[in-house]
Amino acid sequence: MPTPAQLRKLKAAAKTAAARAYAPYSKFHVGAAVLTASGKIYAGCNVENASYGLTNCAERTAIFNAVAAGERKLKLQCVVVYTPTDMPTAPCGACRQVINEFGPNARIISVCRGRGHISSSTHELLPGAFGPADLA
Ligand code: THU
Repeated sequence: MPTPAQLRKLKAAAKTAAARAYAPYSKFHVGAAVLTASGKIYAGCNVENASYGLTNCAERTAIFNAVAAGERKLKLQCVVVYTPTDMPTAPCGACRQVINEFGPNARIISVCRGRGHISSSTHELLPGAFGPADLA
């Protein structure tokens, strides 16, 4: 679990990222921020495409951003998802798989403009996951 101070930073980073979403088709703006085991925060937003299926979700953008920044042995401690909605948004199936790759023991917290939130473990979101160990 992140500390209260880390959680505040993650929420702020995810909210800032949501404002940068490129979502002209769905108009559904999502931001995500990930906390690495080493204490660093990386953020990302959803990036859509005229060829709809090529859309990249905010969670994957944030994780890929961490890898691209040079995180060699990326271990996710926490993933925060922010949407400017009344209800929190759960990560899609593809993002659950990517979260599992780098954070099999991560905490995933969805927050929104409204008061509700969802907090789950990676295992709760993707039980029986296929992962790196299956290829070892
Ligand atoms: N989306 C995310 O970025 N993350 C989620 O957790 C759910 C969905 C994006 C994909 C697409 O750009 C838009 O939200 C509507 O599906």
